[in-house]
This record gives sequence, structure tokens and C-alpha cells, in this order.
Amino acid sequence: MDPAVRRICVAAQKGGVGKTTVSLNLAVAFAQRGRRTLLVDLDPQGGVGHSLGRGDTALAGLAEVMMGRLAPHAAVIQTRLPALAILARGRLDPIDAVEYEEALRGGALGGALDPLEPGFDLVLYDTPAGLGAVTRAALARAHFALVPFQTEALSARSVAQVIRVIDHVRGSENPSLRLLGILPTLVDKSSGDAVAALGQVWGSEAHVLETVIPRVAVFSEASRRGVPVSFLPGAAAPEARRFDLLAAELEQGMERITRAEAPADERPQRELL
Ligand SMILES: Nc1ncnc2c1ncn2[C@@H]1O[C@H](COP(=O)(O)OP(=O)(O)OP(=O)(O)O)[C@@H](O)[C@H]1O
Ligand SMILES: [Mg+2]
Repeated sequence: MDPAVRRICVAAQKGGVGKTTVSLNLAVAFAQRGRRTLLVDLDPQGGVGHSLGRGDTALAGLAEVMMGRLAPHAAVIQTRLPALAILARGRLDPIDAVEYEEALRGGALGGALDPLEPGFDLVLYDTPAGLGAVTRAALARAHFALVPFQTEALSARSVAQVIRVIDHVRGSENPSLRLLGILPTLVDKSSGDAVAALGQVWGSEAHVLETVIPRVAVFSEASRRGVPVSFLPGAAAPEARRFDLLAAELEQGMERITRAEAPADERPQRELL
């Protein structure tokens, strides 16, 4: 694995499970921990731009780069956090959505991202719902997949389907791809359904993360105001802290996976005394 940059693809089969919320707030948490982080919006609907209150057409980004209208470095937006940059979806006419997907299928993502990613420690890909061309292209480049799982009845089955696709991509196009974790999101511990769904996924999947993201109004308030939760005044502290815990857990997970797969002579010698 290329040790310089680690790419994490946030992917889920279902819509509205918190992929964009997780991508944005996790990217902020990594940046606040000092990791140079690039958040790439791969959703043709432009989830990140919407969450940052910039709507459909305000930010240039990936679409212009893939269509050769903008140099990759010119499309990167530096945020107010020194360690966080964003590559937005860009101005994509819905009429061009098919060409956009075809370009991705044809390998245009590499042309757009190869010149950019080496300047970062971590790159996060926010993907659209489903396991179509865009998500496949992101998984084909990623080192790690992070799978948000909305804790409700029937969700466990969709997690199994994402894992099947990850295994397939790993076996065909990208042997470096690893499942970093399944992240329970929108967890409402007062709901019997949610607790049952959580129990089901804990029982059937080995990679469920310890950190869970609760369903709390502050996340929708942050989306409405166009900021990450840690930028909301005052009350957001516990939720922002939750993403710091998640970032720490994922850093450890990436370290563990990378170390376990390093050739034996690259593993540090352990000494008892
Ligand atoms: N933990 C949470 N608590 C409460 N609301 C949340 C939480 N996470 C996300 N939301 C809200 O749920 C909605 C969907 O979240 P989000 O856009 O992150 O999902 P998504 O998986 O990216 O959706 P899509 O599939 O459309 O891209 C948003 O309005 C968001 O503010
Ligand atoms: Mg989204």
C-alpha cells in the first residue's frame, strides 16, 4: 500500500443513511487532528455542496476537471481549517449526468485525482447512494471502505450487499481495498427497531465500529446552516467530539490493517526489555 496517502471511500447502498454527514464531519475531525485531508464529492447530486449550503451550481469542482475545463489544483477549495480542502462536485448539468458517469467508468477519476492526492494524508470520497458506476470507481481507487449503516429494520441486508461488492472489487480491480468498518448511524436508542437492527448487525458482521453516530437534531441543523457540527455554536460539542472519537478509532484501524499486511521485515522488532 502507498503509505503517503490513504483513501477512504464512504459507501452505502441506501440513500439518506448519513454518508455525506459522516464524510464531512469526519473530514473536519481528521483535519482538526492535524491530518491534511481532502474531501472529494463524488455524488452527482453534490451532497457536500448542499450540506455546506452552496446548492447545486455555486462551486466549481470535479465535473469541470473531468471535462478538461479546469486544472485539478485550480478546482481544490481551501477551507477555513488549514488542514482541510474540498473538491466539490462541480457544475454538472443534469443533462450531462450520463456522460459524467461514463467518464468515471472510463477512468477519468484517476486523471483528475492523481495529481492532487499526493499532497494529502487522507482523502475521503463521499459517494451517491447505490453501488453503481460512481461508487465502483471510488472503491476501485480506495484503500479503505467505510460503510454507514442506518439502524433500522431491513438495513442489515443492504450492508451485506455492500460488503459483497467490496469483496468483488478487491478480488478484481483493487487488491488493496479493505473494509475499515461498518458505522451505525442515525442511532435512536429509544426505538426498539433501531436496537434490534443494531443487535442484528453486531451479531452477523465482524467489522462493526465501536463508535456510533446518534440521531440528534443538531446534525440536521448543521446541514440546514451549511456547516459541520463542530462549527455550530455551543451545543454541538458532544456531537463534534463523537467524530473525533470516530477519527481516532479509524486511525487505529488503518494502522492495524497496514501493519498486519506489511512484509515481515518491515514490521518493527518488539522488545520485552
Ligand atoms: N446523526 C444524525 N442525526 C440526525 N440527522 C441526521 C444524522 N445524520 C444525517 N442526518 C440528516 O439526515 C439527512 C440525510 O443525511 P445525509 O445527507 O448525510 O445522507 P446521505 O446518505 O448522504 O444521503 P444521500 O443518499 O441522499 O446522499 C440530512 O438531512 C442530514 O442532516
Ligand atoms: Mg449524500
